[in-house]
Amino acid sequence: MRIIIDTEQSVLEVAGSGTTAQYPLFSPEAFGIVSRQWIVLGWNLGHWQTLSWMGRQFLQLPDDMLRLAELFWTLRPDVIVETGVYDGGSTLFFASLCRLHGPGRVISIEREFRPGVQEAVRQNAGDTVILIEGDSASPETALQVQRNIHPGERVCVFLDSDHSAQHVAAELSHLSPLVSEGCYLVVADSICPDLARTPNGESAWSWDHAGAAVNAFLASHPEFTRERPTPLFSGLADFTELSYFPGTWLRRH
Ligand SMILES: C[S@@+](CC[C@H](N)C(=O)[O-])C[C@H]1O[C@@H](n2cnc3c(N)ncnc32)[C@H](O)[C@@H]1O
Repeated sequence: MRIIIDTEQSVLEVAGSGTTAQYPLFSPEAFGIVSRQWIVLGWNLGHWQTLSWMGRQFLQLPDDMLRLAELFWTLRPDVIVETGVYDGGSTLFFASLCRLHGPGRVISIEREFRPGVQEAVRQNAGDTVILIEGDSASPETALQVQRNIHPGERVCVFLDSDHSAQHVAAELSHLSPLVSEGCYLVVADSICPDLARTPNGESAWSWDHAGAAVNAFLASHPEFTRERPTPLFSGLADFTELSYFPGTWLRRH
């Protein structure tokens, strides 16, 4: 694909597979095409590694986290279950949201905590966060999570550990039953196929990715639908595509 941005004529031209299409530069279509490239180029250069929350590295795209914050503000879940802690940035972010919402806590699962992470989370979030060390794809870990959830509590789940299809499929199988009606299960980094051919991507991501697990899961779980929460405020285009996981927000009915 070849993209030409003509700022003098205010036209965006896309050529590929023997066809050429032109869009007004200031149209939602042109924005969509350019922003998809922006997402891929920014991922490759590590934009997502440059943020922090309460001093801990936070491996996310800012838009994604503000969209999640909006969802959690609206739903006010009692529990946010997270897989994949890394440096603790997302864990502390979710804990901060819980503290703003009122009662609420985070249960975070990590295969192997990096030195200092548990201490930093405890120091900054106290008992708002429960940390569990274990494999987020195992039924034993899911049981441990379940023991920390009280009957009737409203639960959302965010999966951000190993993004391979097999791992995400197992996480979905064991952790999706915890999601409450009307709440969400969000699967991170499902744009991996778009990143597979970048210098820092991996070719296996073309077929082995979280989105494949989500597709298979949805085919046999009618209680979930793929549903992006409607933003509270809108602009002249759909900006929800500015995301590392635009298509893997699942709502439980
Ligand atoms: C993408 S990072 C998480 C980033 C973090 N959520 C954030 O936003 O800053 C993935 C984390 O998942 C952890 N992980 C990988 N495989 C895992 C598994 N099987 N069970 C639990 N955690 C795992 C890794 O050790 C790593 O810390």
